[in-house]
Amino acid sequence: MADSDWNPELYRRFEDERTRPARELLARVTLTRAARICDLGCGPGNSTELLVERFRGAQVVGTDNSKAMLASARKRLPACRFELCDIAQWQPSEPPDLIYANAALQWVADHETLLPRLFKTLAPGGVLAIQMPDNRDEPTHRLMREVATLDPWASSIARAAIVRTKILALHAYYDLLAADAAEVDVWRTAYQHPMDTPAAIVEWVRGTGLRPFVDPLTSAYREGFLAEYERRIALAYLPRADRRLLLAFPRLFIVARRRAT
Ligand SMILES: C[S@@+](CC[C@H](N)C(=O)[O-])C[C@H]1O[C@@H](n2cnc3c(N)ncnc32)[C@H](O)[C@@H]1O
Repeated sequence: MADSDWNPELYRRFEDERTRPARELLARVTLTRAARICDLGCGPGNSTELLVERFRGAQVVGTDNSKAMLASARKRLPACRFELCDIAQWQPSEPPDLIYANAALQWVADHETLLPRLFKTLAPGGVLAIQMPDNRDEPTHRLMREVATLDPWASSIARAAIVRTKILALHAYYDLLAADAAEVDVWRTAYQHPMDTPAAIVEWVRGTGLRPFVDPLTSAYREGFLAEYERRIALAYLPRADRRLLLAFPRLFIVARRRAT
Protein backbone atom coordinates (compact mmCIF):
# COMPACT_ATOMS: atom_id res chain seq x y z
CA MET A 1 0.00 0.00 0.00
CA ALA A 2 1.36 3.45 -0.89
CA ASP A 3 2.21 5.59 2.08
CA SER A 4 -0.21 8.24 0.88
CA ASP A 5 -3.14 5.83 0.71
CA TRP A 6 -5.58 5.41 3.60
CA ASN A 7 -4.81 2.72 6.16
CA PRO A 8 -8.05 0.76 6.74
CA GLU A 9 -6.64 -1.03 9.79
CA LEU A 10 -5.75 2.24 11.53
CA TYR A 11 -9.09 3.77 10.53
CA ARG A 12 -11.00 0.79 11.96
CA ARG A 13 -9.32 1.07 15.38
CA PHE A 14 -12.04 3.51 16.44
CA GLU A 15 -14.73 1.96 14.30
CA ASP A 16 -17.51 1.99 16.93
CA GLU A 17 -17.04 5.71 17.58
CA ARG A 18 -16.73 6.51 13.88
CA THR A 19 -19.81 4.47 12.96
CA ARG A 20 -22.05 6.06 15.61
CA PRO A 21 -22.68 9.21 13.51
CA ALA A 22 -23.24 6.96 10.47
CA ARG A 23 -26.02 5.19 12.37
CA GLU A 24 -27.51 8.44 13.62
CA LEU A 25 -27.48 9.88 10.11
CA LEU A 26 -29.24 6.81 8.74
CA ALA A 27 -31.82 6.94 11.55
CA ARG A 28 -32.99 10.29 10.14
CA VAL A 29 -33.53 8.89 6.63
CA THR A 30 -37.25 8.22 6.53
CA LEU A 31 -37.37 6.23 3.26
CA THR A 32 -39.24 2.97 3.74
CA ARG A 33 -38.03 1.51 0.44
CA ALA A 34 -34.97 2.12 -1.70
CA ALA A 35 -33.97 0.14 -4.77
CA ARG A 36 -30.68 1.88 -5.59
CA ILE A 37 -28.30 3.22 -2.96
CA CYS A 38 -24.85 4.79 -3.31
CA ASP A 39 -22.40 5.04 -0.40
CA LEU A 40 -19.93 7.76 -1.42
CA GLY A 41 -16.53 7.53 0.30
CA CYS A 42 -17.50 4.09 1.65
CA GLY A 43 -14.12 3.51 3.33
CA PRO A 44 -13.72 -0.03 4.73
CA GLY A 45 -17.45 -0.73 4.25
CA ASN A 46 -18.62 0.06 7.80
CA SER A 47 -21.18 2.59 6.51
CA THR A 48 -22.10 0.35 3.55
CA GLU A 49 -22.88 -2.47 5.96
CA LEU A 50 -25.45 -0.30 7.75
CA LEU A 51 -27.15 0.44 4.42
CA VAL A 52 -27.25 -3.23 3.44
CA GLU A 53 -28.77 -4.16 6.82
CA ARG A 54 -31.40 -1.42 6.69
CA PHE A 55 -32.49 -1.81 3.04
CA ARG A 56 -32.60 -5.57 2.43
CA GLY A 57 -32.68 -6.42 -1.27
CA ALA A 58 -31.55 -2.98 -2.44
CA GLN A 59 -28.65 -2.61 -4.85
CA VAL A 60 -26.01 -0.92 -2.70
CA VAL A 61 -22.87 0.39 -4.43
CA GLY A 62 -19.93 1.71 -2.44
CA THR A 63 -17.45 4.08 -4.10
CA ASP A 64 -14.11 5.35 -2.87
CA ASN A 65 -10.89 6.65 -4.40
CA SER A 66 -8.68 4.57 -2.08
CA LYS A 67 -7.72 1.12 -3.37
CA ALA A 68 -6.79 0.02 0.16
CA MET A 69 -10.18 1.03 1.55
CA LEU A 70 -12.01 -0.69 -1.33
CA ALA A 71 -10.03 -3.91 -0.79
CA SER A 72 -11.04 -3.85 2.89
CA ALA A 73 -14.70 -3.14 2.01
CA ARG A 74 -14.82 -5.99 -0.53
CA LYS A 75 -13.47 -8.40 2.06
CA ARG A 76 -16.12 -7.29 4.53
CA LEU A 77 -19.08 -7.37 2.12
CA PRO A 78 -18.23 -9.78 -0.73
CA ALA A 79 -21.77 -9.63 -2.14
CA CYS A 80 -21.70 -5.84 -2.59
CA ARG A 81 -20.41 -3.84 -5.54
CA PHE A 82 -17.54 -1.44 -4.86
CA GLU A 83 -16.12 0.99 -7.42
CA LEU A 84 -12.96 3.05 -7.57
CA CYS A 85 -14.11 6.57 -8.26
CA ASP A 86 -13.50 10.19 -7.26
CA ILE A 87 -16.64 11.74 -5.79
CA ALA A 88 -15.85 14.99 -7.64
CA GLN A 89 -16.45 13.15 -10.95
CA TRP A 90 -19.01 10.60 -9.79
CA GLN A 91 -22.21 10.21 -11.82
CA PRO A 92 -24.72 7.41 -11.17
CA SER A 93 -25.69 5.24 -14.14
CA GLU A 94 -29.32 5.38 -12.95
CA PRO A 95 -30.92 7.85 -10.48
CA PRO A 96 -30.41 6.54 -6.92
CA ASP A 97 -33.08 6.59 -4.21
CA LEU A 98 -30.47 7.32 -1.58
CA ILE A 99 -27.06 8.96 -1.80
CA TYR A 100 -25.32 8.51 1.52
CA ALA A 101 -21.93 10.05 2.38
CA ASN A 102 -20.68 9.59 5.93
CA ALA A 103 -17.45 11.41 6.82
CA ALA A 104 -16.35 11.71 3.19
CA LEU A 105 -17.37 15.01 1.58
CA GLN A 106 -15.04 17.04 3.80
CA TRP A 107 -12.31 15.72 1.48
CA VAL A 108 -14.03 16.99 -1.67
CA ALA A 109 -13.84 20.62 -2.81
CA ASP A 110 -16.46 23.12 -3.91
CA HIS A 111 -19.54 22.16 -1.93
CA GLU A 112 -21.53 25.01 -3.50
CA THR A 113 -21.44 23.07 -6.80
CA LEU A 114 -21.04 19.52 -5.52
CA LEU A 115 -24.09 19.25 -3.25
CA PRO A 116 -26.69 20.63 -5.70
CA ARG A 117 -25.15 18.41 -8.41
CA LEU A 118 -25.44 15.26 -6.25
CA PHE A 119 -28.97 16.23 -5.22
CA LYS A 120 -30.09 16.58 -8.85
CA THR A 121 -28.92 13.04 -9.68
CA LEU A 122 -31.47 11.55 -7.22
CA ALA A 123 -34.67 9.85 -8.29
CA PRO A 124 -37.83 11.86 -7.48
CA GLY A 125 -38.46 11.58 -3.73
CA GLY A 126 -34.87 10.40 -3.24
CA VAL A 127 -32.71 11.38 -0.26
CA LEU A 128 -29.23 12.86 0.07
CA ALA A 129 -27.77 12.09 3.52
CA ILE A 130 -24.44 13.59 4.57
CA GLN A 131 -22.38 13.73 7.75
CA MET A 132 -19.10 15.65 7.97
CA PRO A 133 -16.74 16.37 10.85
CA ASP A 134 -16.84 20.06 11.77
CA ASN A 135 -13.68 20.00 13.85
CA ARG A 136 -11.27 22.36 12.08
CA ASP A 137 -11.33 24.68 15.09
CA GLU A 138 -10.93 21.93 17.69
CA PRO A 139 -7.50 21.62 19.42
CA THR A 140 -6.77 18.41 17.46
CA HIS A 141 -6.93 20.25 14.16
CA ARG A 142 -5.72 23.68 15.26
CA LEU A 143 -2.60 22.06 16.73
CA MET A 144 -1.77 20.01 13.64
CA ARG A 145 -1.82 23.23 11.59
CA GLU A 146 0.25 24.98 14.26
CA VAL A 147 2.99 22.33 14.36
CA ALA A 148 3.03 22.24 10.54
CA THR A 149 4.23 25.87 10.47
CA LEU A 150 7.36 24.99 12.50
CA ASP A 151 10.80 23.94 11.28
CA PRO A 152 11.88 21.40 10.16
CA TRP A 153 8.40 20.29 8.97
CA ALA A 154 7.03 23.46 7.36
CA SER A 155 8.78 23.05 3.99
CA SER A 156 7.46 19.48 3.48
CA ILE A 157 3.86 20.00 4.53
CA ALA A 158 3.03 23.62 3.82
CA ARG A 159 0.00 22.58 1.74
CA ALA A 160 -1.39 20.00 4.18
CA ALA A 161 -3.84 22.35 5.85
CA ILE A 162 -5.62 23.11 2.57
CA VAL A 163 -6.20 19.49 1.50
CA ARG A 164 -9.39 19.32 3.48
CA THR A 165 -12.29 21.45 2.34
CA LYS A 166 -13.39 24.27 4.60
CA ILE A 167 -16.96 23.27 5.21
CA LEU A 168 -19.81 25.78 5.06
CA ALA A 169 -22.18 26.98 7.77
CA LEU A 170 -25.27 24.82 8.34
CA HIS A 171 -27.64 27.45 7.00
CA ALA A 172 -25.57 27.66 3.79
CA TYR A 173 -26.14 23.94 3.17
CA TYR A 174 -29.84 24.45 3.84
CA ASP A 175 -29.92 27.26 1.26
CA LEU A 176 -28.05 25.18 -1.34
CA LEU A 177 -30.68 22.41 -1.28
CA ALA A 178 -33.96 23.95 -0.12
CA ALA A 179 -35.18 25.23 -3.50
CA ASP A 180 -35.39 21.73 -5.04
CA ALA A 181 -36.28 19.88 -1.82
CA ALA A 182 -39.47 18.64 -0.22
CA GLU A 183 -37.62 18.75 3.12
CA VAL A 184 -34.16 19.67 4.40
CA ASP A 185 -33.02 18.69 7.90
CA VAL A 186 -29.67 20.09 9.10
CA TRP A 187 -28.16 19.74 12.56
CA ARG A 188 -24.88 19.70 14.44
CA THR A 189 -23.82 17.39 17.27
CA ALA A 190 -20.66 17.59 19.37
CA TYR A 191 -19.79 14.04 20.46
CA GLN A 192 -17.59 13.69 23.54
CA HIS A 193 -15.33 10.64 23.31
CA PRO A 194 -13.50 9.56 26.51
CA MET A 195 -9.92 8.73 25.50
CA ASP A 196 -7.30 7.00 27.65
CA THR A 197 -4.22 9.03 26.75
CA PRO A 198 -2.95 11.86 24.52
CA ALA A 199 -1.39 9.12 22.35
CA ALA A 200 -4.86 7.63 21.77
CA ILE A 201 -6.11 11.01 20.50
CA VAL A 202 -3.12 11.19 18.15
CA GLU A 203 -3.86 7.64 16.96
CA TRP A 204 -7.49 8.62 16.27
CA VAL A 205 -6.58 11.58 14.03
CA ARG A 206 -3.62 9.68 12.54
CA GLY A 207 -6.22 7.52 10.74
CA THR A 208 -7.92 10.55 9.12
CA GLY A 209 -7.22 14.30 9.47
CA LEU A 210 -3.54 13.99 10.31
CA ARG A 211 -2.74 11.96 7.18
CA PRO A 212 -1.98 14.91 4.84
CA PHE A 213 0.39 16.30 7.51
CA VAL A 214 2.45 13.22 8.32
CA ASP A 215 2.27 11.16 5.13
CA PRO A 216 4.62 13.47 3.15
CA LEU A 217 7.28 13.39 5.91
CA THR A 218 10.29 11.07 6.03
CA SER A 219 10.08 8.64 8.94
CA ALA A 220 12.59 10.63 11.04
CA TYR A 221 10.70 13.89 10.53
CA ARG A 222 7.39 12.12 11.10
CA GLU A 223 8.46 10.87 14.52
CA GLY A 224 9.51 14.37 15.57
CA PHE A 225 6.28 15.88 14.26
CA LEU A 226 4.12 13.32 16.09
CA ALA A 227 6.06 13.81 19.35
CA GLU A 228 5.63 17.60 19.25
CA TYR A 229 1.95 17.25 18.27
CA GLU A 230 1.29 14.79 21.11
CA ARG A 231 3.04 17.11 23.60
CA ARG A 232 0.65 19.92 22.62
CA ILE A 233 -2.38 17.59 22.67
CA ALA A 234 -1.49 16.63 26.27
CA LEU A 235 -1.56 20.31 27.24
CA ALA A 236 -4.85 20.98 25.44
CA TYR A 237 -6.89 18.01 26.76
CA LEU A 238 -6.88 17.95 30.56
CA PRO A 239 -7.71 14.77 32.52
CA ARG A 240 -11.31 14.52 33.76
CA ALA A 241 -12.48 12.99 37.07
CA ASP A 242 -11.59 9.44 35.91
CA ARG A 243 -8.20 10.60 34.46
CA ARG A 244 -9.51 10.15 30.94
CA LEU A 245 -9.52 12.89 28.28
CA LEU A 246 -12.69 14.07 26.56
CA LEU A 247 -12.24 14.39 22.82
CA ALA A 248 -14.93 16.81 21.65
CA PHE A 249 -15.90 16.00 18.08
CA PRO A 250 -18.46 18.28 16.43
CA ARG A 251 -20.18 16.85 13.37
CA LEU A 252 -22.61 18.35 10.92
CA PHE A 253 -25.55 16.45 9.42
CA ILE A 254 -27.66 17.10 6.32
CA VAL A 255 -30.65 15.04 5.18
CA ALA A 256 -32.51 16.43 2.17
CA ARG A 257 -35.40 14.80 0.30
CA ARG A 258 -36.11 15.67 -3.33
CA ARG A 259 -39.61 16.54 -4.34
CA ALA A 260 -41.55 13.51 -5.57
CA THR A 261 -42.55 15.26 -8.82
C1 LIG B 1 -13.29 9.05 6.99
S1 LIG B 1 -13.51 7.84 5.77
C2 LIG B 1 -15.25 7.46 5.88
C3 LIG B 1 -15.52 6.00 5.67
C4 LIG B 1 -16.94 5.54 5.92
N1 LIG B 1 -17.87 6.18 5.02
C5 LIG B 1 -17.40 5.74 7.35
O1 LIG B 1 -18.58 6.04 7.53
O2 LIG B 1 -16.64 5.56 8.32
C6 LIG B 1 -13.45 8.84 4.32
C7 LIG B 1 -13.37 8.04 3.03
O3 LIG B 1 -13.57 8.95 1.94
C8 LIG B 1 -12.71 8.56 0.90
N2 LIG B 1 -12.48 9.73 0.03
C9 LIG B 1 -11.83 10.88 0.33
N3 LIG B 1 -11.84 11.72 -0.73
C10 LIG B 1 -12.51 11.07 -1.72
C11 LIG B 1 -12.85 11.41 -3.06
N4 LIG B 1 -12.51 12.58 -3.59
N5 LIG B 1 -13.53 10.50 -3.81
C12 LIG B 1 -13.88 9.28 -3.27
N6 LIG B 1 -13.58 8.93 -2.00
C13 LIG B 1 -12.91 9.80 -1.24
C14 LIG B 1 -11.44 8.09 1.60
O4 LIG B 1 -10.66 7.25 0.78
C15 LIG B 1 -12.02 7.38 2.82
O5 LIG B 1 -12.22 6.01 2.58
